Amino acid sequence: MSEARGSFRSTFGAIAASVGSAVGLGNIWKFPQELSENGGAAFLYTYLVCILLIGLPYMLSEFIIGRHTRLSAVGAFKKLTPKGSKWYLIGIISVITSFLILSFYSVIAGWTLHYLYLSIVSFFKEPDSKTIETIYTGFVSGYFKPIFWTFIFIVITAFIVVSGVNRGVERWSKFLIPIMFVLLVCVCAMSVTMPGSSSGLRFLFDFKLSDVTPQVILSAVRQSAFSLSLGMCCMLTYSSYMSRSDSLVKTSLWIITLDAMVAILISVMIFPAVFAVGEQSAIVPGLVFKTLPVIFASMPYGALFTIVLFTLLTIAALTSTMSFMEIIVAYLTGDGKMERKKAVLITSIAALLFGSICSLSITGVKIFELWGTSVYNVSDYLVTNYLLPIGGVGILLFVGWRMKTAIIKQELSSWGKYKLQLINIFIWSVRIVVPSFIIIAHLFELISISQ
Ligand code: TRP
Repeated sequence: MSEARGSFRSTFGAIAASVGSAVGLGNIWKFPQELSENGGAAFLYTYLVCILLIGLPYMLSEFIIGRHTRLSAVGAFKKLTPKGSKWYLIGIISVITSFLILSFYSVIAGWTLHYLYLSIVSFFKEPDSKTIETIYTGFVSGYFKPIFWTFIFIVITAFIVVSGVNRGVERWSKFLIPIMFVLLVCVCAMSVTMPGSSSGLRFLFDFKLSDVTPQVILSAVRQSAFSLSLGMCCMLTYSSYMSRSDSLVKTSLWIITLDAMVAILISVMIFPAVFAVGEQSAIVPGLVFKTLPVIFASMPYGALFTIVLFTLLTIAALTSTMSFMEIIVAYLTGDGKMERKKAVLITSIAALLFGSICSLSITGVKIFELWGTSVYNVSDYLVTNYLLPIGGVGILLFVGWRMKTAIIKQELSSWGKYKLQLINIFIWSVRIVVPSFIIIAHLFELISISQ
C-alpha cells in the first residue's frame, strides 16, 4: 500500500520537501512586514520562542497522525476513528483550504515569476520609483498578463507533482532548497557589508523586553503556524511519506530551524538596504514588488540583488504550491482512488479557474467582488482567519484527547529507536496550551479587524 502511494527515499529528501513547503511567501513577504509592524527585534525573538513552544508540538501532532496512518488528510482521520465519527471533516476542511490557498497563492506566485522574468530581461537596471510604479500598476490592472503567469506557475507545479512524491516533490526540493540557501547567504553577506547597514541590523536584533506586547505575541503565534505550514494537514500528508525510522522530533527541529533561518536571512537582506536609504516606511505589502526593486537599483550590484530576490521568491513559492497540490492529489488518489495524472489535471484546471477569478478580482472586475471587496481578499481572509485555525485546533485536540497515548509514544520514539522525553508536557501542550494560543490569537485578530 505505502509503496503504491510512494514515499520519500531519504531523511534529507523528507526534510527538503517539508522545508520547501514551510518556506514560502510567508517568510519573504509576510515576515518582514510583521517585523516592521511589531517592533523589529521584539517580534523576532518572540517568534523564535513561539516556533519552539507552539510550532514544535503543533508540527509533531500532524506528523504523528500522518506517519502512523500513512494516509491522506481524510483517510488518516477515517482510519483512526470508528465508523460514523465526524473527525474526518478536519481532513475535508483541509482539502478545501488547500484548494483555496493553491488558487490565490498561485496568483501572487505568478507575479513573482513575471518579475523574475522582468528582472532578467533587465527592466530593473536603472529604475526610478515612477517606472517601477508604472510597471506594477500596469501589470496588476491588466486582465490577461497576471492570469497568464498564474497559469504558467500552476503548470510548473503540476508538472512536478504529477511525477510523484519521490521523483517529483522530493527530487525537485532536494535540488531547489540548497540553491535557495546558497543564494540567500551570498546576498545577505553582501547586504550587511554595505555602508549604512548597521541601523537596519540594530532594528532587527536589538532587543528590549518592554517592546513585547500581547499584540506582538499573538502576531508571532499566527505567523509561526502559517510559516510552518500548519493547520491544514500539509505536514500530516508529507509525514505519511516519511520513513518509520526517521526521528519525528529531529525532523521537526530541522524544519523549524531552517524555516526560521530563511525568515531571518531575508530580513537581514532587506532591512539594512531599506534603512540605508532611509525608507523605513517602505515595509508595506507592496514591498517586494514596488519598493525593493527601487532601493536595490540605487545600490551597487542592485540588478543582481533584484534577480536573486525574485529567484528566491519563485523557488519559495513553488515548493509551497507543490505542497498545496500534493494534499489534494493525495486525497483524490488515496481516498477517491483516482489515477495520479487525472487528479493533478483536475486540481490544476480547477485551481486555474478559481485563480483567474482571484486575479480578475484584484484587477477590480466588479462581478468578482464579494461584500465590497475582492474574491482574493475574501478567500485569503477566510483561509487565514477561519479555516486554518479551525483545522489546526481540530488536529491538536484530536491528538491530545482522542489518540491513544501508546500510538503517540510509538511515533515519537519511532518504535523505541529514540528515547522519549517530556512526553507529558507534549500531551498537555497539545491538549490545552497550543489550541488556546491559536484560538486567542485568531479571536484577537478578528476583533481587531472588525474595529
Ligand atoms: N508556509 C508557507 C509560507 O510560509 C505557506 C504554506 C504552505 C502553508 N503550506 C501551508 C500555510 C499549509 C498554511 C498551511 O508561505
